[in-house]
This record gives sequence, C-alpha cells and structure tokens, in this order.
Amino acid sequence: MTEADLLLRGARLLTLAPLKEEHPRVGPTAGDVGPIVNGWVAARDGAIVATGHGESHDRLQLVESAVVRNAEGRVVMPGLVDPHTHLCYAGERWEEFATRRSGADYLAVLAAGGGIHATVRATKEASDETVLALLRRRIGDAAELGTTTIEIKSGYGLEASEELRQLRLIAQAKADAPIDVAVTYLAAHALPAPYTDDRAGFIRDARGALDTVTAEKLAEAVDAFVEKGVFEVDDVRPLFAAAKKAGLAVSLHADQLNDVGAAAFAARIHARSADHVAHASAEGIRALARAGIPAVLLPGSAFFVGYAPPEARRFIAARVPVALASDHNPGTSPLEGMPTAIALGVTLCGLTPHEAIVAATVNAAHALGRGDRTGALVAGRRADILVLDTDDERELAYRMGAPLVAEVYASGKRVA
Ligand code: NIG
Ligand code: FE
Repeated sequence: MTEADLLLRGARLLTLAPLKEEHPRVGPTAGDVGPIVNGWVAARDGAIVATGHGESHDRLQLVESAVVRNAEGRVVMPGLVDPHTHLCYAGERWEEFATRRSGADYLAVLAAGGGIHATVRATKEASDETVLALLRRRIGDAAELGTTTIEIKSGYGLEASEELRQLRLIAQAKADAPIDVAVTYLAAHALPAPYTDDRAGFIRDARGALDTVTAEKLAEAVDAFVEKGVFEVDDVRPLFAAAKKAGLAVSLHADQLNDVGAAAFAARIHARSADHVAHASAEGIRALARAGIPAVLLPGSAFFVGYAPPEARRFIAARVPVALASDHNPGTSPLEGMPTAIALGVTLCGLTPHEAIVAATVNAAHALGRGDRTGALVAGRRADILVLDTDDERELAYRMGAPLVAEVYASGKRVA
C-alpha cells in the first residue's frame, strides 16, 4: 500500500502532467494545465507519491501524523518557479525610478555610472549581516507569494572578489532557505571603473573566478548582460566557453533593449535559457525553437522601464518554450512575486492565463534544469504545491494583486 504523510483532496487539481516523457511545453501543450475536477495529491517524505480523482485516495495508507486537507473545490497546483531574480542587493533606486521614462534612458543612466553601479556601491557598503538579512527576507516574501523554487543571481559586485562575496552570502541564505534556491554567477553585468579601458581583462578575471566558483560549488550557472554598450557577444564568448568547460550551465540577458544577436548566440552555445528577449529577431527566435531553449520573459522590467514588452505570441507560434520570471531587482523590476509576473505575462505579453501558468511552473523549472524535479504534480517529483483561494486559476492573471495564495508546501512542508 502507498504511504502518505500529506493529502490534499477535494481540489480542482492542476497536475501539469506531461503527455508522455517530460519536455518543455510547446504547441498545444503550452497551455495545458491538466486539470482534474475533485482531484487529490498525496506526498511522503517531501515527494509526491500519487494523484487521483474522487475518493480513490482511500487506498492510501496515511501515516499517523499525516496532514490531510480538504481544498473544498479550490485550486491546488504546482508551486511557482521564479527562474530569474537579482535578490542579492542593498539600497533602492528612488531617483532613477522617479525620472526614468524609456529603455534608452536606462542605458544612459548606466553609462553615466548610475543604475547597476549605484546598487553595486550600496551593496559594497552594506555589511554581510545586512545583505544576508535582506536576502532571507526576500526569499521569505517570495515563498509567501507561492514561489517554491527561486533562482538568485549575483551581479552587484562586478569585480571578481565582490562577486564571490555575493555568491557566498547567497550560499548562506540557501542553506537555511525554506524553498529551493538555484544560484547563478552573473559574471558580466556591467564594466566596473577600474576596467574601463580593459574589457578583455575584466572578462579574463571573471573567468579566473570560475575556479573558486566550482571548487566551492557556489553556482550552477553563469550569466551575462549582453546588450548594446554593455557586453557584446564577442566579449562574453570566452567566458561562456570557460563556464561550460567547468561544467556550469549558461544563461543570458539577451536582446532586452536592442537586438544584438544574443538569442541566436544563446541557441548556438546551448544555453539553459535565453532571458528577456524582448527585441530578439525572427532569426533568433527560430534558433531558440530549433535548439528547444526556453525563452524567459520578464514583463516586470518592460513595465517599469517602459520599453516594448516581449511579444509572447511570436515565441509560442514558433514553438519556443516560454517561461516567466519576476526579474526582481532594484532597477528595472522592483516587482514582488510570481502572481504579478503571471498577470503581466498575460496583459503585457499576450500569453493566455493557462499558458502563463505553464510558463511560471513547469517551463520555468526547465529554464533552471529542474524540469523533471518540480513544476508538475506527478509521482516522484518534489511535493512543491500551492492551494489557491479560488476555484478558477485564471484569477491569478485577472485579479492582479489579490491575495490568492492560501497555502504553500515546499518539499512537502508547509512554508506559508
Ligand atoms: O534584468 N538588465 C540587466 N540586468 C537587470 C537590471 C539590473 C539593474 O538595473 O539593477 C535586468 O533588467
Ligand atoms: Fe535580470
């Protein structure tokens, strides 16, 4: 008999189960949430053991201390996966926020030594304790809003020693986090002043830091901001080659404000994901589709900065797997939590509500190389589960800002 220590029953259960073997969802499956009316999901020791319909959970053997909840028709679905955040920072950017009006201004502020550089200064000045406390609070806030897996980048250190400090602080926060944390070394976010005339030297030193990153297991992936006037494809090519050689995944801030050919480059180097892609060319999109690489759409930054948001239909029509993320950061996207990203993914990017849910769960898990571990309610996966305060999951996209997340389980434990 199958044993369970957690049973959520009487639910509108969104399983997001794959049709056959697990793949990023494209085509008709891009909006298939696999609903079961009057469904149930059961878990044991942090992993899902079974799902089903009606009273068929009767055949489970519930352990003595089992948690049993009747969802009373409410939605029960996979925990949300946020595959792109910059949570490791101190300070806010009120001045920039108040004055910025366009994407071009964003790059002008950066070129003038503000923007990312302002956050780098504030983070450098803050003590380890302060940054760690901020990280822990932000991870907790994300969990409250339904996130059970979160990617966190460094990137506000710039110089290798400061980047390593950030990665070590993220490792500390990860060690006692209630949810799963995927760490990324954002090695090339902006060029710090000491390297103004030595871009190649900066990349060389970032590559040098990879030895420490791998020796201390500080990150799973390496990222770079590939953008006009920031880093070009040719600048970051050696960095990504070294990252891959070291066994790390790579992902890119690609074609966020301008088409610099970064989406096609992401496909060529078999990146784990290509992120932003608001200005990706048709050729770049075709290349992502051929390589099966998820495009992570970040509507929050388009919303706050005011540039044209990524058009989801271009990606969906081309059969590129689409994921959504918050991009939480103090500059382009101070938004909190995946429900808002889902709502903006629908209203700004043109996803359907169900496509946005797929993009914020299983496809986002694929963007983090976790497509077979979380993102769907399927036996064998981590018991990352949400209970919503509604019987219609489309409310996530519609009632923007409503407190819909009622219960959050990460690896079978109630975390919010
Ligand atoms: O994803 N564009 C590059 N990186 C971040 C913003 C960083 C910042 O402005 O602090 C992004 O938009
Ligand atoms: Fe970002």
